[in-house]
Amino acid sequence: MTLETRPASDYPLPDLVNHLNLSFEDYIVPVQFNLPQFLTILRKDSLDLQESRVLLADGNPAGIALIARRGWTSRLAAMGIMKAMRSRGSGSWFMGRLLQEARERGDHEMELEVIEQNEPAVRLYQKAGFRTIRRLIGFVHQAAKQAAKNDLHEVDLREMGGLILKYGLPDLPWQLSGETIALLNPPARAYQKGSAYAVISSPEAVHIVIWSLLVEPGARGSGLAVDMLNSLMANHVGKTWHVPAIWPEEFGKIFTQAGFQREEISQWQMKISL
Ligand SMILES: CC(C)(COP(=O)(O)OP(=O)(O)OC[C@H]1O[C@@H](n2cnc3c(N)ncnc32)[C@H](O)[C@@H]1OP(=O)(O)O)[C@@H](O)C(=O)NCCC(=O)NCCS
Repeated sequence: MTLETRPASDYPLPDLVNHLNLSFEDYIVPVQFNLPQFLTILRKDSLDLQESRVLLADGNPAGIALIARRGWTSRLAAMGIMKAMRSRGSGSWFMGRLLQEARERGDHEMELEVIEQNEPAVRLYQKAGFRTIRRLIGFVHQAAKQAAKNDLHEVDLREMGGLILKYGLPDLPWQLSGETIALLNPPARAYQKGSAYAVISSPEAVHIVIWSLLVEPGARGSGLAVDMLNSLMANHVGKTWHVPAIWPEEFGKIFTQAGFQREEISQWQMKISL
């Protein structure tokens, strides 16, 4: 079997979506990408299609790796091998190639997130030299109806991205980083209440995702984050609130205190120095 790679930019976008779906067949959580979702992650997560790769086995598509880039850092945003080709060493070969290319283009580090329960993927990344930074967890909450207080002030998402860069953890997972949040647009929203801030997906939808929660450093330790969560829920009644499993475990207590339930799936945030 001959393995080789081609730049993802050689392919029409619908073909890439198709390769992605085939490469994530029977994934631990069912995923089915469509073109609009692909275009959204392309823009928001800084995917570089010229550096992303389609894996070919004897000339036929056998897998895909999506690479995002910012400055010296790249992120393996997705990697999958088509079902019939798994467990035959192709993933390991592909990963070696991706790391070599990252070194050659001058990247200093590569990061990724992997579902903790996805044993083949965790093994693959550990074997390639990735080290765990922290566990990432998620929550869900079906909030009871509460009276709206209208005590939130809306801020520009671009400005919010700047605040996260200034005050947030320096090694936040890619999707929670200030750079990513600054690229969100309405109908997503950023809110401020005193020294506390939050970012949510469209409040018009029944299911709302919390993308950011931030308290200015001088105001930490006095319950403002939990208060912000309660205000969000009071201002948007009857919604189901989701915290995707990309939140640093150290934030967990805040969500539990606001009545959120922990999701079963968790991830490892991993990094390799190149
Ligand atoms: C994860 C994935 C990319 C690995 O690709 P692959 O071609 O199967 O990988 P390899 O054959 O090179 O094996 C890599 C490691 O996983 C282990 N592995 C492979 N299949 C396994 C299985 N079914 N169960 C447990 N471990 C397995 C191998 O033993 C190997 O580790 P080792 O060398 O220490 O023994 C592939 O399984 C896949 O595409 N899965 C679906 C999508 C996915 O989960 N992507 C990762 C998202 S972060």
